Amino acid sequence: NEIYLQGLGGQLPIFTTDATALEAVARERFESGPFGYVEGGAGSGATVLANREAFDRWRIVPRMLTDATQRDLSTTVLGTSMVAPVMLGPVGVQSIVHADGELATARAAASLGVPMVLSTASSHTIEEVAESNGDGQRWFQLYWPNDNEVTVSILSRAKAAGFSVLVVTLDTWTLAWRTRDLDGAYLPFIRGIGTAIPFSDPAFRAGLAATPEDDPTAAILHWIPMFTGTDKRWDQLPFLREHWDGPIVLKGIQHVDDARRAGDAGMDGIVVSNHGGRQVDGAVGSLDVLPEIAAAVGDRMAVLFDSGIRTGADVVKALALGARAVLLGRPYVYGLGLGGEDGVRHVVRSLLADLDLTVGLSGHRTVTELDSGVLRRG
Ligand code: FNR
Repeated sequence: NEIYLQGLGGQLPIFTTDATALEAVARERFESGPFGYVEGGAGSGATVLANREAFDRWRIVPRMLTDATQRDLSTTVLGTSMVAPVMLGPVGVQSIVHADGELATARAAASLGVPMVLSTASSHTIEEVAESNGDGQRWFQLYWPNDNEVTVSILSRAKAAGFSVLVVTLDTWTLAWRTRDLDGAYLPFIRGIGTAIPFSDPAFRAGLAATPEDDPTAAILHWIPMFTGTDKRWDQLPFLREHWDGPIVLKGIQHVDDARRAGDAGMDGIVVSNHGGRQVDGAVGSLDVLPEIAAAVGDRMAVLFDSGIRTGADVVKALALGARAVLLGRPYVYGLGLGGEDGVRHVVRSLLADLDLTVGLSGHRTVTELDSGVLRRG
């Protein structure tokens, strides 16, 4: 309604309300390096495509005369309350698309009551992002370093800065064959030097002869073996438990046996995710594996979902197939690049409004009502 009313006054939205069209707008306006990094997938891009195709295989079957005029989409996941089961997923090096990067994202998220997950590869420090996020709800995503002192240092800073849940990403222990970045020899992390979390961390800097600002190449060479090529196993998870006082969620789960294993290891949740098709080319669409994983472990831990969410209908489908909440990726990053804090807000508000209308027009009042009975394979 607000958009239509503003239209009467001659004011149009700052850019499209169609999240599926955002990518084309960003392609025109972003520099090619950052655009390729955000949009690209692993290898041939088959998994990026598979993520979208998985949504197309399900259709919503609307119900009528159900009194769905007043809706309440709010929910709580692992002690975190949210206006709707939607969070901003962890995306690193956001300053490559907008100078304010994660600070703008943090402000937009807080203003909407939408939790954010901050990446270890953030281009602004943990403390700066926490300050921008203010009273907002925030989780911290860990790329698990090889150096235990660095791990403990990062975790204690995140805890002190008010991050409540730890999300450990398992699928990116090294970067995949990303042809867009390889063709352009584009390494986004170079731009994060000096402010990015790993580089700003005292334990990381202690291992360097000079400061990262004075010797960026040495810092990168120090960073690569610490954050990529890392060799972690299931039996190391207790280390994180020991050093993190709060819920722990494993991100990047696609196999039902790994989901069960996460439960056996006492984890509080998982994110069913293939990193937006950015890691294993030819991998299964993330939504395709959600139903069996949710059926296997949904009663003992929080099952979250990402990879391919673009519209309100996508959120409905993921919730109906067993997710407690979803994480957004590329769409809000396009919003950030196109309009900074306002751009993120525009994209997220549009998705929330789309979700609210889709839930209501399908005949439902709350997100807890959504189960596989609202969908048909189509
Ligand atoms: C990511 N993603 C990601 N995940 C993570 O755990 N830590 C990170 O630093 C990043 N960085 C990152 C950068 C960019 C540019 C993208 C697009 C993605 C993955 C992200 O959290 C999420 O899993 C996917 O983005 C979801 O897929 P869609 O919705 O983008 O298709």
